[in-house]
Amino acid sequence: MTADPVPSVLALGPVLPVVVLGETRPAEAVPLVRALVAGGLRAVEITLRTEGAVEAVRRVAAEVPRAVVGAGTVLTPEQAVAARAAGARFLVSPGWTDRLLAAARDTGVPLLPGVSTASEVMALLERGVAEMKFFPARAAGGPAYLRALASPLPGARFCPTGGIGPDSAADYLALPNVPCVGGSWMLPPDAVRTRDWDRVEHLAREAARLGAAAVAETVADTGGGAEGRTGSGTGTGTGGGTGGGDVSAGGPCR
Ligand code: 3PG
Repeated sequence: MTADPVPSVLALGPVLPVVVLGETRPAEAVPLVRALVAGGLRAVEITLRTEGAVEAVRRVAAEVPRAVVGAGTVLTPEQAVAARAAGARFLVSPGWTDRLLAAARDTGVPLLPGVSTASEVMALLERGVAEMKFFPARAAGGPAYLRALASPLPGARFCPTGGIGPDSAADYLALPNVPCVGGSWMLPPDAVRTRDWDRVEHLAREAARLGAAAVAETVADTGGGAEGRTGSGTGTGTGGGTGGGDVSAGGPCR
């Protein structure tokens, strides 16, 4: 049975690990994701950049029930369909097209479409999509750019990814329009290549702590009112399932 879609990608937790399998075989995605989950990062995006990536999604969905697995780098309607059939509970794309939005809606799984300009944000808001990936975050302007979008585009919420690491994640998470950040920093290629799952677990734990601390700090700064930062649930999905909504080490994302 395919697990329920998540209601909101941005509500999965403050840190979303991005898995790029490279030479790693699909079966090895299972211990890799188990290490992330053990470290406190239960929501995981597996990018569809390698031949075995859909199979990796399928294996993780079947063998790591504590994980909430999604598919990233979803570029085509066909990939959206294949990822959902494999068990993906959410989809992420570096950009978007109307065809892709429609295909994601048809799967019932929320899609986090990528943007890097104000016009793209406006076009998505026009289409009823309020949750977006900001990509490539560092190259496209980083926290300063996202801060500048908050006032004119208050309806949009972002998960920045691309070039984010432990030194910069908190700067993004301090922004009112950023409930979570994505990245691969807890999955160094050499650790994955050598199957150093202890190291991955350790880095995941540090990332989860960093996310939880950023959430706590923001809640304190805003006098406890974090509701405005919560993923709005107005993504492109239509599924009504709620399983897996609270998956982060520090509770659901703001
Ligand atoms: C990506 O799509 O590659 C993600 O944004 C991850 O980027 P990173 O490897 O720079 O964290």
